[in-house]
Amino acid sequence: MTRLAGRRAIVTGAASGIGQASALLFAQQGAEVLAVDRPGVAFAFDEVAGPGRILPLALDVTDEAAPEAAVAAANAQFGGLDILFNNAGVGASVLAAQMSDEAWDQVQAVNLRAVFRFARAAIPLLIKSPAGRIINTASVMAQGADYGLAAYCAAKAGVLGLTRTLALELGRHGVTVNALMPGAILTGMTRDSFARPEVAEVWARKSVLRRLGEPRDVAAVALFLASDDAGFVTGQALAADGGLTLRI
Ligand SMILES: NC(=O)c1ccc[n+]([C@@H]2O[C@H](COP(=O)([O-])OP(=O)(O)OC[C@H]3O[C@@H](n4cnc5c(N)ncnc54)[C@H](O)[C@@H]3O)[C@@H](O)[C@H]2O)c1
Repeated sequence: MTRLAGRRAIVTGAASGIGQASALLFAQQGAEVLAVDRPGVAFAFDEVAGPGRILPLALDVTDEAAPEAAVAAANAQFGGLDILFNNAGVGASVLAAQMSDEAWDQVQAVNLRAVFRFARAAIPLLIKSPAGRIINTASVMAQGADYGLAAYCAAKAGVLGLTRTLALELGRHGVTVNALMPGAILTGMTRDSFARPEVAEVWARKSVLRRLGEPRDVAAVALFLASDDAGFVTGQALAADGGLTLRI
C-alpha cells in the first residue's frame, strides 16, 4: 500500500530515532522526503524499500536561514510541499534553580522557535497542496512535568499551543496541523538512560503495555496524521505512549 503516493515531505531530526523511522516509513509509503538533520550527523537510509525516496539535507534547524533553505530545497527537488514534520528536538535535564539562560534558550530554539519558523516558511507551499499537513512532535511532557525538565516541558507545551493556533489559521486552506505526544521511546535521546536496566524497567512499567516504545510506534502515528485517513483531524495532540499517561 502507498498511503503517501506523490506526497512531498520535510522531516526534521531525520537522522535518528522517531524522525529517521518516519522518513523511512513515509518513503516506503511513496513520499519524496527531504530528511533534515544537523551538519555532521550521519544519515543512514540504506534500507529504503519502496516507491518513494529520501534526500538528506544537513541543516541546523535553529539557523536563521534554515527554514527557508529547507522549503526552497523541497520546492526545487520535489516541485512543492505537502507535509512538514517538525520533529527535531533536544532534551535537557537541569533543575530550574540551576538552569542558565543559555540552556533555557537552546531548548526553546530547537523545540519551539524552530517549529514555528519552519511552519511559517512552509505555509506558502502547504496552502497550494491538496492535502497540506503539519505534524509537530511534542511530548507527553507537554502536559506533564518531571524534575529538571522545566525548559523541555515549557517548550513542548508551547508546541501544543502553536499547533492549535496554526490549525485554526490554516484550516480554511485545507491544511491540517496536529501534534504527536510520544511517551518513553527508545531513541538516540533516551539511549543512555535506558541503557540502565533499572531506568528502562521503570519506564516500561509506566506504560500499560509494559514496554518502551520503538521509533516505528511513533512513525506509524505520524504516517496516519500525514495520510488521507486523517484528513478531518486537526488541532489535536495524539499521544503515542503505550498508555503511560492513563494513570495519575
Ligand atoms: N524519545 C522519547 O522518549 C521522546 C519522548 C517524547 C518526545 N520526544 C521527541 O521526539 C522528537 C524526536 O526525538 P527522538 O527521541 O527521536 O531523539 P533522537 O535524538 O534520536 O532524534 C532527534 C534528532 O533531532 C536532531 N536535532 C537535534 N537538534 C537539531 C538541530 N538543531 N537541527 C537539526 N536537527 C537537530 C538530532 O541530531 C537527532 O537526529 C524530539 O522532538 C523529542 O523531544 C521523544
